[in-house]
Amino acid sequence: MEQPVRCLNVQGEHSVKRLFTSHQIIGREGETVTLYELARLILRCVNSVSPHVNSIVRLLRSNNEAGFEMMSDKPIAFAAYETLAESYAAVIDTKPHNAYCERPATLSLLPAVKNKRVLDAGCGPGVYSQWLIERGASVVALDASPKMVELAKERLGETAEVRQADLGKPLTFLDTSAFDIVLSPLVLEYIEDWHNTFAEFYRVLRPTGHLIFSVTHPFSDYLYFKSNNYFETELVGSEWRGFKPVRVHMPSFRRSLSATLNPLIEAGFYLERILEPKPTEEF
Ligand SMILES: C[S@@+](CC[C@H](N)C(=O)[O-])C[C@H]1O[C@@H](n2cnc3c(N)ncnc32)[C@H](O)[C@@H]1O
Repeated sequence: MEQPVRCLNVQGEHSVKRLFTSHQIIGREGETVTLYELARLILRCVNSVSPHVNSIVRLLRSNNEAGFEMMSDKPIAFAAYETLAESYAAVIDTKPHNAYCERPATLSLLPAVKNKRVLDAGCGPGVYSQWLIERGASVVALDASPKMVELAKERLGETAEVRQADLGKPLTFLDTSAFDIVLSPLVLEYIEDWHNTFAEFYRVLRPTGHLIFSVTHPFSDYLYFKSNNYFETELVGSEWRGFKPVRVHMPSFRRSLSATLNPLIEAGFYLERILEPKPTEEF
C-alpha cells in the first residue's frame, strides 16, 4: 500500500532537506513515498492509541559528560505561542487534558522538591513553577516566548527567576551542576535536535539529578499526523482550536520512539520510568 506524504516546507528557516535528516531523502514536496514495512507493523499494533496521549519520561543523570554540537534556528513555535500566550494562560489551570491527565502524571514522577533547585524548561505561563514554589522548591523558569515570560512573571512575582531563553541553544547563563531537577513538560516537540538540549540539561544537573519531561506519544503522533515516514523526524503541524477565541497553526516535530529515547541515553542519562498516563476521574 502506498500513501501520499506531504513534505512541509518551513517558512524559510529550515529547508525540505533538513526535514529528512537521516541517511536518505525519500520525498520532496507533493511526492508519494512508500511506508516502511515496520511502520505498517507498528501501525497495526498501536491503532487503538488515543492521539492525545502523552508519554512522560523520568531520567537519572549519570556521570558521563556530553558536549553541545550544533545550534538550532529560531524556535519554530515562537509565533504561535506569542499569539496563543494569553488564551493559554487563561485556561491552562483547568483545561482537562493538562489539569486531569498530563499534569498529574508528570507531577507524579517528581522526586521530593522541598529545598530543591528546579529548572522549569519551557515554563509557559508558570503553572508548574507555581506548583513547585508552593512546595518549597527554588525555581528558575525559562521560555522562548516573551509573552509567556511576562505572564509567568505576573503569576510568580518575585518567587522565581523567569527568563527568556531558547532551549534549542546553549544555556550559557546557567552554571554547570546547578540544579537538582530539570522539568520540561510539553516543550520538546518544538525542538528538532534533542542531542544539544539534553546535553545542556545534563550539564546543568547535579550528579544524581533528575530530568522529567512530557511529550506527545510517538505512536499517537504517527497516527494523528498520518505520517508515512515513521523513522524520520518530521516537521508537522495542526490547527489548535482549544484555546478560544484564538486559533493557531502549531508546528512541531514528530519523531519515532528510538529518536525520543536514544538522545537521552547518548547524553548520559539513565532511564528510570516511562509513564503513558490515563485521564484522572475529574477529566
Ligand atoms: C504547551 S506549552 C507548555 C508550557 C508549560 N510547560 C506547561 O506545561 O504549562 C509549550 C511552551 O514551550 C515554549 N517553547 C517552545 N519552543 C521553545 C524553545 N525552543 N525554547 C524555550 N521554550 C520554548 C512555548 O513558548 C510554550 O510556552
